[in-house]
Amino acid sequence: MPQQLPTQRKILVTSALPYANGPIHLGHLLEYIQTDIWTRFQNSYGNLCTYVCADDAHGTAIMLRAEQEGITPEQLIDRVRVEHHEDFKNFHIHFDNYYSTHSDENRYFSELIYTRLRDSGHIARREIEQMFDPEKGIFLADRFIKGTCPECKAEDQYGDNCEKCSATYSPTELINPRSAISGATPLLKPSEHYFFKLPDFQNFLAEWTQDGRLQDEVANKLKEWFTDGLQEWDISRDAPYFGFEIPDAPGKYFYVWLDAPIGYLASFKNLCDQRSDLNFDDYWKPDSTAEVYHFIGKDIVYFHALFWPAMLEGANFRTPNSVYCHGFVTVNGAKMSKSRGTFIKARTYLDHLNPEHLRYYFAAKLTSRVDDLDLNLEDFVFRVNSDLVGKLVNIASRCAGFVKKGGGVLSQMSEPALFQRFVDAGEKIAADYERREYGRAMRQIMELADEANTWINDQAPWVLAKQEGQDALVQGICSTGINLFRVLMVYLTPVLPKMSQTTADFLKVDSMNWASRSQPLENHAIENFKPMMQRVDDKQIDALLEASREDVAKELALQAGTEQAAVQEDGPLQKDPIAEEINFDDFMKVDLRIAKIIQCEAVPKANKLLKLTLDLGGETRTVFSGIKSAYKPEELEGKLTVMVANLAPRKMKFGLSEGMVLAAGDGSDIYILEPHEGAQPGMRVV
Ligand code: MSP
Ligand code: ZN
Repeated sequence: MPQQLPTQRKILVTSALPYANGPIHLGHLLEYIQTDIWTRFQNSYGNLCTYVCADDAHGTAIMLRAEQEGITPEQLIDRVRVEHHEDFKNFHIHFDNYYSTHSDENRYFSELIYTRLRDSGHIARREIEQMFDPEKGIFLADRFIKGTCPECKAEDQYGDNCEKCSATYSPTELINPRSAISGATPLLKPSEHYFFKLPDFQNFLAEWTQDGRLQDEVANKLKEWFTDGLQEWDISRDAPYFGFEIPDAPGKYFYVWLDAPIGYLASFKNLCDQRSDLNFDDYWKPDSTAEVYHFIGKDIVYFHALFWPAMLEGANFRTPNSVYCHGFVTVNGAKMSKSRGTFIKARTYLDHLNPEHLRYYFAAKLTSRVDDLDLNLEDFVFRVNSDLVGKLVNIASRCAGFVKKGGGVLSQMSEPALFQRFVDAGEKIAADYERREYGRAMRQIMELADEANTWINDQAPWVLAKQEGQDALVQGICSTGINLFRVLMVYLTPVLPKMSQTTADFLKVDSMNWASRSQPLENHAIENFKPMMQRVDDKQIDALLEASREDVAKELALQAGTEQAAVQEDGPLQKDPIAEEINFDDFMKVDLRIAKIIQCEAVPKANKLLKLTLDLGGETRTVFSGIKSAYKPEELEGKLTVMVANLAPRKMKFGLSEGMVLAAGDGSDIYILEPHEGAQPGMRVV
């Protein structure tokens, strides 16, 4: 029978587009690492797999964040995109293109898809009433409204649900509602909105979500949503909004979640325009035979498995083959927590630890299911040291010295059958990568590593080396060992691309792709061995947690200057208590002093800031404080207050802030603290 040539699959994969208003953290990284491993595996295996992504640059949260920093949204998203891309690069996440949703291509496709949907009758218009912040002049999404829970009367709850009693309600039911942005009491105001008629796609989606393409857990969850009935989806927002204006509706903008997934198309189109071997239509026309997969987290299934396929279907594009959904990262068994120092930014991790260690740890624990994944830091140290250093690198380091003594050239292997078994194991491992069962793949690889080590122990080349006439056997054993190591490194290349490159240099081979493993390296010169990976130390973990706590403190200081929480447009809000018990010594580190406000002026371009000149009993300090909404500048001059005198100076857009003034507040009202009569500037407060 003639041997069938394997066909090369054409695959396009994406990860969710991270919001451009915050840093990449370890939670995000699970997804990008999962996707990158899959892409690298596919390419290693001989398929053409393209990986695109972008920053999700639109929406109210980004608009407000830019305002808070005193820059334009464009400046913010440009800066953040570079930061994100740099973080990803340092974790060895390789995108074929990393773009932005704020791009010409994305505007083009958003308008195209919208007009096609509209022209086929899938867009409805009607007036709705919504909460409006009269001070800020903007409509307020539910999570920008706070008030007292109508059920349990807990104060300070967000507009859609109560964190105390879990009641869900509409913001109009809140008692004493107020804007989380300005503190003003919101009004109900009517406005015309545009809706995507999702119920038009009821039959299509019933089939699409239940035909076996999705994970079982996801398909079952979607079934529940179907039983509840599909709702029309509000896709418009009123100005001011940072996004794309709707073509036939001046002053109305596409809701960020409309153009976000279209960003996948835009990023890919932008790539196709740079690459002659990729053709946009081959991947996106309705009868395309290329494969498309979206990797996402469990919080955004609704958008990817209902709205998105319906939009594509309605606008005459193909729909994805699947949506691969993962769970959430927890650290030491709990949600990432700012107070415990386990809210870890990608950058902070990189300052302290090796990115490939995290890639391996995630891989070792990933399955094809939607379960959450716990990063247990003790287990992390143990696993990385035991698997990567103790098992894997150990194979090479035990054998390389003898090969070097023998002339630095690999000889014939003494045990080709063992080598062949390692090669044959590749098909099962490949199947596990394909099915995203990385944990199983890692276990098989480590079992092979154990086997290699046991075999080398049994052969004991170090004993033979001391005997007469055994040189050829010693070389044969060690050459087998190095060849086994190479096969394992081929299997680990998708997970450990940098270590794989170091291995390729050491072994003087051009390729570490999947097929390359079956040809053993014999009569082949290699380089001197250098240890390829260091052990992790508990001290590095401690330093990482400490630095993460400092990150949180810095972010809070920035927010304190504006009294505005960093609010995310969608997805669960991270409302973390930051109050942590401190001891007396910690408290004594804070140098609180009486200060006299000798001068006070408004900062013209800043909404919330006053510039205070303070007398500390001889020394003068400048402090920017976010209290403009509560005080007129002249009201404060001559008053005494309390300041933190030993806070590291902070560079702000308007100048250097050399401390912080203490004020009480509940998010809407602000009161600066004032000492009793008789206190003098410069006195220590204890
Ligand atoms: N901008 C949207 C996605 C638009 S896609 C067209 C968004 N951005 S995000 O920055 O909040 O999240 C990006 C991805 O990271 C999402 O898939 C989300 O599920 C994932 N994760 C964010 N935090 C996470 C964890 N703690 N754990 C695992 N994944 C998490 O959503
Ligand atoms: Zn409640």
